[in-house]
Amino acid sequence: MGVSAKIAPSMLSSDFANLASEAHRMLSCGADWLHMDIMDGHFVPNLTIGAPVIQSLRKHTTAYLDCHLMVTNPLDYVEPLGKAGASGFTFHVEVSKENWQELVQQIKSKGMRPGVSLKPGTPIEEVFPLIEGENPVEMVLVMTVEPGFGGQKFMPETMEKVRVLRKKYPTLDIEVDGGLGPSTIDVAAAAGANCIVAGSSVFGASEPAQVISLLRKKVEEAQQNS
Ligand code: DX5
Ligand code: ZN
Repeated sequence: MGVSAKIAPSMLSSDFANLASEAHRMLSCGADWLHMDIMDGHFVPNLTIGAPVIQSLRKHTTAYLDCHLMVTNPLDYVEPLGKAGASGFTFHVEVSKENWQELVQQIKSKGMRPGVSLKPGTPIEEVFPLIEGENPVEMVLVMTVEPGFGGQKFMPETMEKVRVLRKKYPTLDIEVDGGLGPSTIDVAAAAGANCIVAGSSVFGASEPAQVISLLRKKVEEAQQNS
């Protein structure tokens, strides 16, 4: 039995002016998680949402809010996001080399699930210590585009990192994010990804439920064949 499929529409592609109804729409279409892209305009050249928006959305849903922190100082966000009701807190390894142990411990102490993400150019070896440490992260998010914007083209060369991770850690949650949709899911699922973030392919579809169900089916099939 492999890891379970989690399909996480990226709310970055939603209508932010109608966030609660967009969240309900995705959940009714079969989403497992809601992926929330938090940016600071510094780690990435874009600015999106922060803890106040998570807090507002939390009042409208009990769903798992999978927060992806594209920020330079993730430690500053732990307490506010914990209070706001975030579920997962995934920080970037590129900015956490010195303090990831403290970060993971703080994230857990606020009742959130810690994850680590890496940009396409960052070697996979950099996350090994965070998975193998005494207080490990529980998910690795392999970026399949440069972080910052939705609607970019999937980078197939990032799949080698997913393959390496899956071979080494058979039960780890491995998330992929960027350019995922019906035309790229096969390669990601075969490499071993089980948590699939999808923004434009889901929100841009006339039938988002069909896209979500296809993504799930492909992950489940790949897991059965592994
Ligand atoms: C990009 C974000 C993604 C983005 C994915 O920096 O981390 O979550 O919303 O969007 P698509 O699926 O359109 O590439
Ligand atoms: Zn993301």
